[in-house]
Amino acid sequence: MTEKTPLGAQILLTIILIIINFAPSTIGNGPDMYVCLCKGITDTQIRAAVEDGASSLRDVRKSLGVASQCGKCGILTREILRESLVDNSDEQQLFYAVS
Ligand code: FES
Repeated sequence: MTEKTPLGAQILLTIILIIINFAPSTIGNGPDMYVCLCKGITDTQIRAAVEDGASSLRDVRKSLGVASQCGKCGILTREILRESLVDNSDEQQLFYAVS
């Protein structure tokens, strides 16, 4: 005989899972988010492509295949690309020589 989980506990567990999966990451890397469902490309893969030298949607499309089928992921890919380029340029500014 199995006991049923109370409805309140089920709702609480569901809320916790939603928060864990969709909360923005503030410490380290959060869970991967699928950006391109046609090709199964995540935001982490796009950020890695930028670190490897991609600087445009064309570059990311060429290296990962993102936005090469239905194209619905193009706008989000561009946003992640732009964000990654800004992050990378901020990191580079930390290395200016002090004279
Ligand atoms: S979701 Fe990326 S090409 Fe379709």
